[in-house]
Amino acid sequence: TDVSILWSLTVPVGGQDDSTKAVITLQPPWVSVFQEENVTLWCEGPHLPEDSSTRWFLNGTTIQTLTPRYRITAATVNDSGEYRCQTGLSVPSDPIQLEIHRDWLLLQISNRVFIEGDPLALRCHGWKNKLVYNIVFYQNGKAFKFSPQDSEFTILKTNLSHNGIYHCSGMGWHRYTSAGVSITIKELFPAPVLRSSLSFPLLEGNLVNLSCETKLLLQRPDLQLYFSFYVGSKTLMSRNTSSEYQRLTAKREDSGLYWCEATTEDGNVIKRSSELELQSPTSVWFHVLFYLAVGVIFLVDTIFCTIIHKELQRQKKWNLEISLGSGHEKKVTSYLQKEIQSEEELKCQQ
Ligand SMILES: *[C@@H]1O[C@H](CO)[C@@H](O)[C@H](O)[C@H]1NC(C)=O
Ligand SMILES: *[C@@H]1O[C@H](CO)[C@@H](O)[C@H](O)[C@H]1NC(C)=O
Ligand SMILES: *[C@@H]1O[C@H](CO)[C@@H](O)[C@H](O)[C@H]1NC(C)=O
Ligand SMILES: *[C@@H]1O[C@H](CO)[C@@H](O)[C@H](O)[C@H]1NC(C)=O
Repeated sequence: TDVSILWSLTVPVGGQDDSTKAVITLQPPWVSVFQEENVTLWCEGPHLPEDSSTRWFLNGTTIQTLTPRYRITAATVNDSGEYRCQTGLSVPSDPIQLEIHRDWLLLQISNRVFIEGDPLALRCHGWKNKLVYNIVFYQNGKAFKFSPQDSEFTILKTNLSHNGIYHCSGMGWHRYTSAGVSITIKELFPAPVLRSSLSFPLLEGNLVNLSCETKLLLQRPDLQLYFSFYVGSKTLMSRNTSSEYQRLTAKREDSGLYWCEATTEDGNVIKRSSELELQSPTSVWFHVLFYLAVGVIFLVDTIFCTIIHKELQRQKKWNLEISLGSGHEKKVTSYLQKEIQSEEELKCQQ
């Protein structure tokens, strides 16, 4: 059969469904090797029932290999470049940038680009497998791992802080230092933000919608985020696919610091929001009682004021009647009475 016709009929052009993307794996798993070393590339992807052939590309050009295994023996600089593969029912794989080096020491890495949460393997490798010891791994010029014997080190869960230029040094005849390699970690989703549907103060019986908002920056097959909601150290909802949480505020205990968390299914990436404070919901009865109390106080105050006012007037008048002579009595009394009255009025108004 004519293979090229089959390909042109079945390869979905531009159909970027990640689940049908072919995947290249390396054996040994390093994207950089020394000259004369062997590497095997494997291609995995769905095939047509009647055709199990695999296509390989180096720098965009087809290689004359149709097996899922592409073996490089005694690598030369001509083997370096960007590899992709494709099977009958897949779209081309992500590229693998294979580098062939000549040096004394080589920092080998399992890939150049990672998505946060992926593992990253490093190996400080001597030319012709020469033994190196007292190995130091560096990120951006800063040592982060010392290893007396083991030349391999794995960062199990990468995060954005693992971006940078890596190199290593090790003892052989003397101390050798590798060249630097750049490693990129891509963010899967930013830390979520917790939002509330209601502004405050809350009333008892209010329905509050809390939403844990974030956005996937990369599409990955079968990627599902899970959301958890907390108040203080108490879990309100644990690992639900829904990023919304509904709450009927009823009690004093509903006040507090709320936060949420978004995680991937495997839990390799966990990000939490900052805290959002919800104030204590005040009950309807509290409001009723409060206004009732204010009303009562006002009423009592008014009555009390009137009584005191009248009592004072009476006493002053009586005092004056005693102290003053009978001749000027009436005039002075009425004058003072007026003054006292206005004084009391002022006090009650205050
Ligand atoms: C590469 O493979 C060839 C043949 O399969 C073998 O003779 C050679 O020793 C291998 N080279 C290394 C560096 O392992
Ligand atoms: C592929 O491209 C890279 C970089 O452009 C180059 O260094 C390498 O030699 C190329 N490989 C082949 C086989 O042409
Ligand atoms: C809360 O969410 C529910 C269901 O998703 C919706 O019916 C309701 O209107 C929302 N309430 C507010 C205040 O946003
Ligand atoms: C997840 O959330 C939905 C909607 O809020 C709810 O109906 C469902 O019971 C929750 N599932 C679990 C396992 O909590």
